[in-house]
Amino acid sequence: MENNFEIKIYENIDMLYKDLYSEIKSLIINLKKPILGLATGSSPLKLYKLMSDGFKKESLDYINLKTFNLDEYIGLGKYDEQSYSYFMWNNLFKNINILEKNINLIDGKCKDVNKEIKRYQKRLDRAGAFDIQILGIGTDGHIGFNEPGTSIDSNCHMVYLDMQTIKDNSRFFNNLSDVPKSAITMGVKDILKAKRICLIATGDKKIEPIKKFVFGDITNKFPASYLKRHNNVCLYLDKTAATEILKNKDFTNYIVK
Ligand code: F6R
Repeated sequence: MENNFEIKIYENIDMLYKDLYSEIKSLIINLKKPILGLATGSSPLKLYKLMSDGFKKESLDYINLKTFNLDEYIGLGKYDEQSYSYFMWNNLFKNINILEKNINLIDGKCKDVNKEIKRYQKRLDRAGAFDIQILGIGTDGHIGFNEPGTSIDSNCHMVYLDMQTIKDNSRFFNNLSDVPKSAITMGVKDILKAKRICLIATGDKKIEPIKKFVFGDITNKFPASYLKRHNNVCLYLDKTAATEILKNKDFTNYIVK
């Protein structure tokens, strides 16, 4: 079976994040104006810790870095602890010397959702291709908040979250009913514009999504599968998330580190 994406499988999860951080670091060092697309959630947390340490301990200079975040809950703003803006400030931006004007976040507290979508899309279009887009994957196959059914041609849009996503994300809230039901997300088309896409998946909840990604068809029922239309995608997996890949004797197109 052929595949047009890289797969890196790690015995040691710290090595996974170290390798991914190396990619980011070389981009920060070597490019005049690096642009990163960023995700929130559990998957990139350790990467942001390494990036923060990079500033503190290695004097890595983020002054020219521009970032764009994938998504935000509607109704939550940067002072709400469960918002993605708060997550980014708390886990990364406050720890490094990135300029505020170079940080692009969606305003979930905006008065006019359509206006906010247009504003963000304009920024995305002006920025051009990101150097690296960091992604996690939802158990329902979402990337960003592009839920099942989303078109490959989608731009920034408002979305009603899938029940599965609401359940998955309730771990960050006191009650299931506190999880916002809607969000604004970059579209699949915006994500696919990146020069390189690094998707992180670890742990047993990601076994099925990774199996579907690697062995399944490209379908709107599983939006992450659209990434197979891109020619520079790398899956960063731990051994657990990669369980089904490692089981399949006919499939050897990956490296174990
Ligand atoms: C977050 C995002 C989502 C997450 C996905 C996986 O900004 O866009 O697509 O990447 O839900 O979440 P975790 O990493 O928490 O399993």
